[in-house]
Amino acid sequence: MSHAGAPEDRSARPTVSYGNGIVSKDLPTERERLRLLEQGSDPQTMAILRQLPLKASWRCLDLGAGAGSTAYWLADRCRDGHVVAADIDVRFLDRTRSDNLEVREFDVGRDEFPAGSFDLIHARSLLCHVPTRDTVLVKAAEWLAPGGWLVVGEPYMFAPETSPYPALRRFYRAVDERWAAQGSDMRWARRLPGLMALAGLHQLGVATRPNCMGLSGVHDSFVLASIRQIGDVMVRDGDITQAELDEMLALFDDTTFVDLRSVFITVWGQRPLDRREPVRGSVQLPIMT
Ligand SMILES: C[S@@+](CC[C@H](N)C(=O)[O-])C[C@H]1O[C@@H](n2cnc3c(N)ncnc32)[C@H](O)[C@@H]1O
Repeated sequence: MSHAGAPEDRSARPTVSYGNGIVSKDLPTERERLRLLEQGSDPQTMAILRQLPLKASWRCLDLGAGAGSTAYWLADRCRDGHVVAADIDVRFLDRTRSDNLEVREFDVGRDEFPAGSFDLIHARSLLCHVPTRDTVLVKAAEWLAPGGWLVVGEPYMFAPETSPYPALRRFYRAVDERWAAQGSDMRWARRLPGLMALAGLHQLGVATRPNCMGLSGVHDSFVLASIRQIGDVMVRDGDITQAELDEMLALFDDTTFVDLRSVFITVWGQRPLDRREPVRGSVQLPIMT
């Protein structure tokens, strides 16, 4: 979307990816934005991880570990085991945090672990951003030891045009174009239960969490940090005008504003101990929040 008269020549832009796009770690606000993401997501993630039969000896992998909260939490609980915090860009991860923690630069679209390496693999808000996400899910299931667990959480973002707020529709249409340009799919979460079953996992569980804007609290802090960061980049690149960004932000000054932008969907499943075990398990519904 261009608002400056002549249509913009998008082919003139450098190819965008996670690393140089609207959530790049080069942006000065990205570390704090990831911390807010953790504060909003960790209670549910840890509640899900706690209900697994976690053992102190487990070998764990946190894929796309970001600012590290899940990897650090696992390292505290698996004191006799080993936790790998893997990320394509490890600059926000603290290697010195714990003896049993390994920080590894790792591109999940390209790099591999040996089959059967882990008792637990966790990935949150990662695979939506990886163009080869379906294949990566199958590979991650193979990296599990027999009896190991895969836990994957992703946002499902509703189509902007379904919002009753015109300013929000304009802003998020432009955001969705940016996600698409960098190969992110913010509706991929809908495929997760089926893909996990097809990858041979059983004992599937599903948890959902509504993400409502305008209800204050940590989710609004995360959303506002995201809108400001992403919005500034999009104004700079001519995707939206400063006035459009200001209209979006002004919605938060209206005490009646509330919009259900996304649902966060977490699915977990276990690699059978014996490959002859039936793939289908119980899908637990409805679920924890
Ligand atoms: C939205 S953040 C989520 C961070 C963390 N999982 C959380 O939920 O707090 C996505 C993370 O995935 C990483 N990432 C993106 N593409 C990746 C890839 N191909 N391989 C490994 N990590 C990747 C990013 O660097 C970033 O740290």
